[in-house]
Amino acid sequence: MQGYGTKPPARAKVDSYPTVEKYGIVFAFLGDLPESERPPLLQIEEYGQPGWRANQVLVLEVNYYYERSIENGLDPAHNEFVHPTHGHQGVNRETYRVNEYEVEDHRQGWGFWFMHKFDSPPLPQRGHVTAKDSDTPWGDAKTQRTRIFAGGGTYGPNIMPTYINLSEDKMFRQYFFEQPVDAHRTKIFFLNMRNFLLDPDNDAPIHARNKVIAGQDIALLLEVNPAMTPLSKSKEVLMPADKAIATYREWLRSFDDRGWRIDWKEFTRRHGLDKAYAIPSPGRRTSGNWVLDPVPLLKNRAERDLKDRDEAA
Ligand SMILES: [Fe+2]
Repeated sequence: MQGYGTKPPARAKVDSYPTVEKYGIVFAFLGDLPESERPPLLQIEEYGQPGWRANQVLVLEVNYYYERSIENGLDPAHNEFVHPTHGHQGVNRETYRVNEYEVEDHRQGWGFWFMHKFDSPPLPQRGHVTAKDSDTPWGDAKTQRTRIFAGGGTYGPNIMPTYINLSEDKMFRQYFFEQPVDAHRTKIFFLNMRNFLLDPDNDAPIHARNKVIAGQDIALLLEVNPAMTPLSKSKEVLMPADKAIATYREWLRSFDDRGWRIDWKEFTRRHGLDKAYAIPSPGRRTSGNWVLDPVPLLKNRAERDLKDRDEAA
């Protein structure tokens, strides 16, 4: 048969993306930017260094939008109410307030950073603490200190480092790499580093503890509406303690303005019906003739705002 067994047609190709394996995670760059224009992967300076130990990466598949997940992690007020072992659950301390803090640019240039003093009572003062709680490495460390210096920030749209300094020489450094799946699903890769309790026997209890804490956040975030961050500030009440969240949103806007945001509404309107879209890969810069159309992108945040207003009208 003519043509049978000859080389595949030029259009028989799919997009492939650059990948890097690091920190026990495979990272893919989903886009067509040449390497020199891509945000570099976050450098974790203590990873692999003596005196530090990494836990096995905790993978969490959650049913909410990644921006909401990041905003929760950035919220210094939430620990008091969401995590029973971090605060007073909003009771027993009527004077509770978030200490003031300042935000600064992240040293690696793709986001911001903040640290603040976080009041946390020693475990024995809490009536609801169980023997099991006080046995955890986290709990023991906290009994020695009532003030924790904690904070974090963002790097790019979907990476959130968090530092928890229990004392000057006892630190957890946690890194959340949040993979957006769609408007209602996120896959979180949670890397926990520590510079104390270095015995590998502590890996399992710390891993289990982190899973419990994450479960408390997940239970709350499943209930947040709207699922995506509202565009208008008047549709939410933001307080001074939400400075970190506001700064994250400014960074998102700056990424939007580079034209990096998928036009989600246009995408969902047609994808799977009369269209199948692909995220363009770097290969599209050097060869044409691709079968699938590139995903629709928004030129900037203003375009997104305009589309929303049109819809509301
Ligand atoms: Fe939390």
